[in-house]
Amino acid sequence: MSTSRVVVLSRLPGTAVERLDAVHDVTYRDEDTRPSRDDVHSLVAGADALVVTLGERVDAELLDAAGPGLRVVANVAVGYDNVDVDACRERGVVVTNTPGVLTDATADLAFALVLMVTRRLGEAERLVRTGRPWGWGMFQLLGVSVQGRTIGILGPGAIGLATARRARAFGMEVLLSGRSEPDPTAVAELGAEVVGTDALLERSDVVSVHTPLTPATRHLVDATALARMRDTAVLVNTARGPVVDEAALVAALEAGRIAGAGLDVYEDEPHVHPGLLGRDDVVLLPHIGSATVETRAAMADLAADNVLAVLGGEDPLTPVR
Ligand code: DGY
Repeated sequence: MSTSRVVVLSRLPGTAVERLDAVHDVTYRDEDTRPSRDDVHSLVAGADALVVTLGERVDAELLDAAGPGLRVVANVAVGYDNVDVDACRERGVVVTNTPGVLTDATADLAFALVLMVTRRLGEAERLVRTGRPWGWGMFQLLGVSVQGRTIGILGPGAIGLATARRARAFGMEVLLSGRSEPDPTAVAELGAEVVGTDALLERSDVVSVHTPLTPATRHLVDATALARMRDTAVLVNTARGPVVDEAALVAALEAGRIAGAGLDVYEDEPHVHPGLLGRDDVVLLPHIGSATVETRAAMADLAADNVLAVLGGEDPLTPVR
């Protein structure tokens, strides 16, 4: 195999960079900070492969800056809305992502948000940190139990189904709704009901969003969708911020049209709608769905394996189709 030029645009955990470096000529930007667009453009010039994370926007400009030798863009994430896949395709550049390896970590976080919101854990933790006197109280910080309630999974792909499995283990009923039919074995195993989006919104106590961000899913959860939800229901989003209309969510919370929300993602990260920041009925996390040591190393490894495969003339392991 001849040596190719691989550019890794931000710091990666584990041994992924070492493994690439053993075979190829690697330019490694071993930093967490965002480089300027000009710096990115000069770094990528002449690259055969790029390894990028969610902070990097891979658009036509960047692809042109890389030049005609570019063969693969390996995104270290399962979502790839940061990559202009059509522009890559037009230039014959393969795009890969990292499905599978982050399913459990993200589902764990989605269900953690379900519990945080329904049991008011953020609020409870903040109370203790104030240092104010508190004691066991019959009516102190009462939440609601999830057992016997219904979770609606919007987008029953791998992460949605893994979240549903966790919900089942906590005694919840499961509704599923998505553009494509969920895996029938999983549906049977979960004892789930596949329904339309409106029915899911109307019947769920928890609506958990797991759809990828596409033009069709942008603002899928808008004012109309929120109005369909029960006023006792909560919304959880660990997918992509723009799937939820954040201004409409704030309005729904303010009007008491839904009971709370748990968010790991935002429309315009890292900006968070100011109407969310002061509310005790929302839990706000900084996009950490896949943030475990093991998961991030596995994501970096899978991205490296994809690069090694494409540069070695083989099929990528996890191409974006
Ligand atoms: C993904 O992989 O799409 C996650 O959002 C990254 O944490």
